[in-house]
Amino acid sequence: MLVAEAAKMGPADDGVDVGFGFADQDMMWMERFSPRHITGLNITPMQVRLDRQRVQRRGMADRITLTEGSATAMPLPDACCDIVTAVECAFHFHTRADFLAEAFRVPRPGGRLVLADVIRTAPEPAALRRRVQEFTWSQFAQKFAVPAANADQRAPYIAKLRAGGFATVDVRPIGEHVFPGLHRALAEDPALFARLPMDGRLPYRLLLNLDARTVYSAFDYVMATARKPTGKGVRDGAL
Ligand SMILES: C[S@@+](CC[C@H](N)C(=O)[O-])C[C@H]1O[C@@H](n2cnc3c(N)ncnc32)[C@H](O)[C@@H]1O
Repeated sequence: MLVAEAAKMGPADDGVDVGFGFADQDMMWMERFSPRHITGLNITPMQVRLDRQRVQRRGMADRITLTEGSATAMPLPDACCDIVTAVECAFHFHTRADFLAEAFRVPRPGGRLVLADVIRTAPEPAALRRRVQEFTWSQFAQKFAVPAANADQRAPYIAKLRAGGFATVDVRPIGEHVFPGLHRALAEDPALFARLPMDGRLPYRLLLNLDARTVYSAFDYVMATARKPTGKGVRDGAL
């Protein structure tokens, strides 16, 4: 919802959603924002196959096309869309910088990029908190196969977006709307807790005694928006 709103998605837009997972957001966007078309790209064949059936059952197969392909080598022509989105997945692309090059290539001039992404915070001065950061980041990096090249803090992250050619860049933290709820859910829902990596469960059980701010202190959950220049001159700020 937030991602589509940030992208100002509307009926004139062709979207490309990379790493679509179960494509729930694509069907929800189609229902609420009615873009002209969404192309989903996903590297996992099983998700593509199953999600095509789900899209078909929702009667959206003519407006949502799900395709096997990588965010870092999109099987799409230049300047073919208006919006590129990546929800909770750019952190594990090899590499995020390669994805940004593609995310710049496929939109038309003036096209928008919106990412719900996870990057790193600066190391905490206090030793205990720094150790928590190291532990939780390493668990996250292991579970989601996050390449070391993607472990950016906010300033280099913004620099990569700008180096990718985007002229309007806005990166804002939204972790306070995500992490406290996740922390509570992990404490209260055994099925969700069981989805943590096996070797992380015991240490994580101890972390449940700490507050969310400490446990998630390694993570900067951001909403990043950027625009491909039209050539007419645009400045940084919201889309
Ligand atoms: C953590 S899930 C996020 C799914 C979805 N966007 C969501 O928010 O529910 C990551 C998704 O990215 C996909 N993925 C991983 N690497 C990819 C790549 N190089 N190109 C395209 N999709 C990729 C995975 O198959 C998976 O569907």
